[in-house]
Amino acid sequence: MRVLVVGGGGREHALVWKLRQSRSLEALYCAPGNAGIDRLAEPVDLDPADVDAIVRFAAEQRLDLVVPGPELPLTLGVGDALAAAGLRCFGPSREGARLEGSKAFTKELLEECGIPTAAYAAFTEADAASRYVREIGAPLVVKADGLAAGKGVLICESVAEAEAAIDQIMRDKVFGEAGERVVVEELLGGEEASFMAITDGETVLPLASSQDHKRAFDGDLGPNTGGMGAYSPAPVVTAALHDQIMRDVMQPLVIGLRRRGIDYRGVLYAGLMIDASGPKVLEFNVRFGDPECQAILCRLRSDLLELMNATVDRRLAEIALQWDPRPAVCIVMASQGYPGSYEKGRVIRGLPEADSWPDGVVFHAGTRSSAGEVLTAGGRVLGVTALGDDIAQAVGRAYGMVEKIQWEGAQYRRDIAHRALPGKG
Ligand code: AMP
Ligand code: GLY
Repeated sequence: MRVLVVGGGGREHALVWKLRQSRSLEALYCAPGNAGIDRLAEPVDLDPADVDAIVRFAAEQRLDLVVPGPELPLTLGVGDALAAAGLRCFGPSREGARLEGSKAFTKELLEECGIPTAAYAAFTEADAASRYVREIGAPLVVKADGLAAGKGVLICESVAEAEAAIDQIMRDKVFGEAGERVVVEELLGGEEASFMAITDGETVLPLASSQDHKRAFDGDLGPNTGGMGAYSPAPVVTAALHDQIMRDVMQPLVIGLRRRGIDYRGVLYAGLMIDASGPKVLEFNVRFGDPECQAILCRLRSDLLELMNATVDRRLAEIALQWDPRPAVCIVMASQGYPGSYEKGRVIRGLPEADSWPDGVVFHAGTRSSAGEVLTAGGRVLGVTALGDDIAQAVGRAYGMVEKIQWEGAQYRRDIAHRALPGKG
């Protein structure tokens, strides 16, 4: 099979790395790729947001499958455009991708399906939103409706803060078009967990559990990021909770999508808050988590291309996934200043040494090659990932690899997976 992966981050490196191991793979392309991906897949100079160019390339190259890594091409309708050209895509249609692209759409669908989530109201007028906030009082959460690079969620401790958040989103348009609508939501307490599954629109196949670390600094302090590390399995998702999430969240959602006539074949990623009453949905993503994907794919023993084909062909019911029982840990090394502004172009040293560790893989995120050297080219630079007989060994190995790698201003958390370590909380 001839396959194109769209994207150029750590998640896409993990996808390419795993697809490379597939028996039925003939040719692998990645657009745009990065310094690590380019060793495994032929780089294609395409913008992941340029849907027409992706479809043109896929048709010209007679590709058998396109795998969009990030949400943007999916929300822009790459799935529909490929289907219209008679091409296959692992990922939902534009309508399905609204599950990540519009918080108001998702809340409405959740309500319709009877899936537990925070009480909410959605507004297209700032005045009405402010009035509502004054009526129900703080604390509460104000969210920009659309894609805002993970920054569109504002936790507000007071009514004044909430009104300021509404002003920023709806009047100052700090998140652009994403702020044409806001969702105002009840603040939930509890422990956060994520849950990923693959669906072909009928069958829901859960993936191994995983958990990421969203805050920039140790002890879950500092600003929110795309994710500073991840581990799999996640002890917070017990067997009982797993069953409850499948029964109360994933299955009803897939039924609800089908009832609306939405073609959903791809990843469903639920962000959840767990409290005494069970799981409540915070959000849905329509793609693999980054860096959760890096940890999970290191543990997947089954053939990823076969899994993706079965999804697209709607025969997921035939698939049983095999997992490495050993835990995996991914530590993100980022540029100094991330998630704020940072410098690029620093020379990364020690990669060959780290790469040669047994049971470890260095996934590249923001890197590029220049004159035989690997340079930093983004906020999240590397996802250093290792397996271990237990989580402590996986953590030890991954940090051992991290210590071999240097560049000026490298920044990473030292407490990845601390919640999964025995005796830690
Ligand atoms: P979201 O993009 O909707 O998942 O929100 C990003 C983060 O904001 C989540 O990971 C939570 O930490 C937090 N958050 C979102 N909604 C709520 C809520 N209703 N109650 C408490 N925390 C929330
Ligand atoms: N790591 C969180 C996400 O991919 O959305």
